[in-house]
Amino acid sequence: ESTLGAAAAQSGRYFGVAIAAGRLNDSTYTTIANREFNSVTAENEMKIDATQPQRGQFNFTAADRVYNWAVQNGKQVRGHTLAWHSQQPAWMQNLSGPTLRQAMIDHINGVMAHYRGRIVEWDVVNEAFVDGNSGARRDSNLQRTGNDWIEVAFRTARAADPNAKLCYNDYNVENWNAAKTQAMYAMVRDFKQRGVPIDCVGFQAHFNEGNPYNSNFRTTLQSFAALGVDVSVTELDIQGASPTTYANVINDCLAVARCLGITVWGVRDSDSWRSHHTPLLFNNNGSKKPAYNAVLDALNGG
Ligand code: G3I
Repeated sequence: ESTLGAAAAQSGRYFGVAIAAGRLNDSTYTTIANREFNSVTAENEMKIDATQPQRGQFNFTAADRVYNWAVQNGKQVRGHTLAWHSQQPAWMQNLSGPTLRQAMIDHINGVMAHYRGRIVEWDVVNEAFVDGNSGARRDSNLQRTGNDWIEVAFRTARAADPNAKLCYNDYNVENWNAAKTQAMYAMVRDFKQRGVPIDCVGFQAHFNEGNPYNSNFRTTLQSFAALGVDVSVTELDIQGASPTTYANVINDCLAVARCLGITVWGVRDSDSWRSHHTPLLFNNNGSKKPAYNAVLDALNGG
C-alpha cells in the first residue's frame, strides 16, 4: 500500500493524526492529512476549555469542525479528552470538592452526549500520574476530590456512551521499568479486577531526550494487553524523527494483537507542539521525510 492509513488497514489497524481546526484551510495540510491518515484526534478542540468555556454552556463549534472534516473524509475519530488537570476553563480551575466532582461528571455527560455513538475511542482521563519515581497520582484539583475520581469518570462515561471504547491516556509510560508505567499498570489491573469499565490504554509516545524510546515498549504494550484492555499509540512524535525509532514503534504495535492503531501528533514539523524537535513525518513544505518511508515500510510488513 502507498499510504499510511491503507498500509495500517492491512492488519485491521488505523493510522491517525492530530488535527488542528485552525489549519483546515491550509490545502497543503489537508491534502496530506486526507491522503495519509484514516483516524483523527482533535489536537485541542475537544478539551474541556474548548467544549465548556462557561459552566453549563457547551460549545462544539471547533470540535465539530475537526469531527466533520474527519467523518466527511471517511476517517474515524478518537475523542481527546474528558477529565484532565490541564486546559480546564477558569471556572473549573476555581472549583474543588463535591462541586468539582459534579462538574466533572456533568462535563463527561455533556460532551459524550453530543458525540454519542460517533467516537471510536475516548480518552476519558488524561495524565493522572506524576512524573518521577514515586508512582503517585499527580496532585490536581481533580485528585483532591478523592482518589476515586478516575473510576467515577469511567463509570460516568460508560453510561453516557456505551459504544465508545473508554481509554486512560498518559505520557512517559512507554518504558516498562518506569515507576509511572508500573503505577498505571497497577491501576488498570485493579480496575479490571473490580469491574471498573476501562477498555483501552493510550500511550502518548512523545519520545525525546527526557523520555527516550526503549525496546521494552513492546513488553509494556503486551503486558497491558494481557490485562484485557486494548492499547493504542496516541500522540507519537520522536525528537529528530529517527527512521529506525519510528519503525521500532510501528513494529511494537504490529506485534501486539490488541494494539488498535497509531496516531502521530501532527502532520508537518511546523504543525508540531515541539516543532524545534522536527519530530514528525513530513517536512514544513509537505514533503515526506525518511521517517515517513520507514513507517510505511514497517506497516507494509518491513
Ligand atoms: O489558541 C490560542 C491563541 O489564540 C493564542 O494567541 C495563543 C497564545 O499562546 O495560544 C493559543 O492556544 C494554544 C493552543 O495550544 C493552540 O495552539 C495554547 O496556548 C497552548 O497551550 C496549546 O498547546 C497545546 C497543549 O496540548 C496544551 O496542553 C498543544 O497545541 C497540544 O499539542 C498539546 O497536546 C498535548 C495533549 O493534549 C496531551 N498530551 C501532551 C500533548 C503535548 O503537550
